[in-house]
Amino acid sequence: MSPPQFSEDFIQKLNKLFSWRRDVRHFQTTPVEDTLLDQLLSIACMAPSVGLSEPWHYIKVETQKLRQEIYTLFKTCNEQAAQQYASEQQQLYSNLKLSGLNEAPHHIAVFSEENPAQGKGLGRHTMPETTAYSTVMSIFSFWLAARAHNIGVGWVSILPPQKVKTILSVPDHWTFIAYLCVGYPQFQYETPELEQRGWEKRNPDRKQWIIR
Ligand SMILES: Cc1cc2nc3c(=O)[nH]c(=O)nc-3n(C[C@H](O)[C@H](O)[C@H](O)COP(=O)(O)O)c2cc1C
Repeated sequence: MSPPQFSEDFIQKLNKLFSWRRDVRHFQTTPVEDTLLDQLLSIACMAPSVGLSEPWHYIKVETQKLRQEIYTLFKTCNEQAAQQYASEQQQLYSNLKLSGLNEAPHHIAVFSEENPAQGKGLGRHTMPETTAYSTVMSIFSFWLAARAHNIGVGWVSILPPQKVKTILSVPDHWTFIAYLCVGYPQFQYETPELEQRGWEKRNPDRKQWIIR
């Protein structure tokens, strides 16, 4: 099959996809069709991976008890994190919504194998962490593909990895990478929510090349 040619119109729409991809914390409770979630997983599996190791594992957390245990863990960690800030920032922090765990119809936990047989070790002798990088690449593919279908993804990292592993009964050699909330968003916006709420803003310097 001949390779596709991407039109200017397509490229412009793709750029919009990048700029309208958001970390979503406000979800509608309507579930996403299973076939669509399967498609997103297939796209995640098109991501590059060191040595073609495909080290990722995606777990759909459907059991209400497990979802609740993760939410309770998040709540505790989030309250502890708030205490790390000086009082004036503490209030701002407490007003942030840092997960949609309660409403999101889907919880997806992503793990990475530390030393997968697949790939035969190629490419990671000097940088073993490249397996985790590969898994992050797959998450980003999932995230963008989801956005193309108007599905929101929210990454929750305010969780202790070892406890997440215990709750979800995963093997010791899997590294916890991400806990994703997935569902149709309540709102769509082009500016990151943390910027809207005055926590942080994008830094224009990051768009500058550093030349050596
Ligand atoms: C590795 C990683 C961890 C993150 N953890 C959290 C989190 O625990 N809670 C949260 O609300 N957002 C989390 N985010 C989302 C970021 O806050 C968000 O990407 C950033 O504010 C920029 O907003 P945008 O994704 O809408 O552009 C995380 C994002 C990444 C890439």
